Amino acid sequence: MRVLVTGGAGYIGSHTVLQLLEAGHQVSVVDNFINSSPESLRRVVSIASKKVATFRVDLLDRKALAEAITSIQPDAVIHFAGLKAVGESVAQPLRYYKNNVTGTINLLEAMDEAGCRTIVFSSSATVYGESVDLPLRETTPRSATNPYGRTKLHIEEMLEELAASDSRWRIANLRYFNPVGAHESGLIGEDPQGIPNNLMPFVAQVAVGKRDAVQVFGNDYPTADGTGVRDYIHVLDLAAGHLAALDYLASSGGLHVWNLGTGSGSSVLDVIEAFQRISARLVPYDIVARRPGDVAESYAHAEKARLDLGWKAERGLEQMVEDMWRWQFKNPDGFPKVGHEEMNSLELRDFVLGEVASNK
Ligand code: NAD
Ligand code: WQD
Repeated sequence: MRVLVTGGAGYIGSHTVLQLLEAGHQVSVVDNFINSSPESLRRVVSIASKKVATFRVDLLDRKALAEAITSIQPDAVIHFAGLKAVGESVAQPLRYYKNNVTGTINLLEAMDEAGCRTIVFSSSATVYGESVDLPLRETTPRSATNPYGRTKLHIEEMLEELAASDSRWRIANLRYFNPVGAHESGLIGEDPQGIPNNLMPFVAQVAVGKRDAVQVFGNDYPTADGTGVRDYIHVLDLAAGHLAALDYLASSGGLHVWNLGTGSGSSVLDVIEAFQRISARLVPYDIVARRPGDVAESYAHAEKARLDLGWKAERGLEQMVEDMWRWQFKNPDGFPKVGHEEMNSLELRDFVLGEVASNK
């Protein structure tokens, strides 16, 4: 199948591109590299020894996006492209609405014009807001507590109305819980810009010596050890969930929603302890005040994806930490940064990666 992956150079996108290639799909990527490096795709190409036609295009550039889609003629789209930092979204709400919602509208219009109406969308458990009705089911009422979460909620509702207006659309809404970990090669992984917002990459940077200590946001929650509990899911399991959803849409029209989580939770101290044990490094931490907006616990009811897609998460916290640590240890500063000049030298259109791989 010809699959277009938007945001394919990013953390989850790059891992999904790799699995698509390994499954024999023909993959193209559209990415503006606002939060990623071409290096991630270069490494995906070298692991898979396959080409990836990559277009350095912003979803907000309707003309360039339409040209890319016309050139690719995708059978389906997996849509990762988006800004995802909760705190940043509070400071820059319009930027998030424009990038995430308008970018998605541009994508859907370009797809429709090209006759491609199959899409897998990166949604988030954040659409469950501060629900305490655990485990979180696909039918749990949605709400938003920040602009980022509201962009995801708006896009989900937009997709529902699109599917209701035109039965030719085949749509999968995938609600991710907490993606962590990395490919077992240690060549690709999560490369947050600046200070990581999320727990796991922050702990990894403390373990590798880049940061001094973890700030534990509260230990007075009504949980076993008082710290926040989350449903961490290995990024490779998450990627596999996208291929399963794509296969499902090949034979089922309409709109479908699935939680992608393990169905169980781990606490902040569980994560820190696992990192110390697996990395054999000390991970100092300080207990500080709760982070506003955090819930005590969040974990998925994961049965629907198992029943509908035959998919379930296979990897546990140990594997997540082991793979995350290997990536962090081998790449303490993440991917090599690409300078402005080099980035601008990349072909605006058909920046095809993989020549190197095919010549190897
Ligand atoms: P990421 O930032 O690593 O990847 C996103 C990619 O999209 C980046 O390569 C970025 O350059 C690209 N991008 C952003 N805006 C773009 C635009 N306007 N045009 C073209 N490319 C653009 O993030 P990720 O962690 O891989 O997340 C992928 C998706 O999954 C996002 O939509 C995110 O909201 C969603 N999600 C992530 C998490 C998580 O914890 N990582 C959890 C739930 C949902
Ligand atoms: C996990 C736990 C914190 C950092 C976020 C977004 C969500 C989604 C996934 C995009 C919590 C604690 C964290 C730290 C800490 N992203 N923590 N010290 O908040 O569950 O979800 O990422 O869709 O939208 O909200 O993940 O990794 O930030 O926090 O104690 O330095 O770790 O309180 O209990 P979260 P997280």
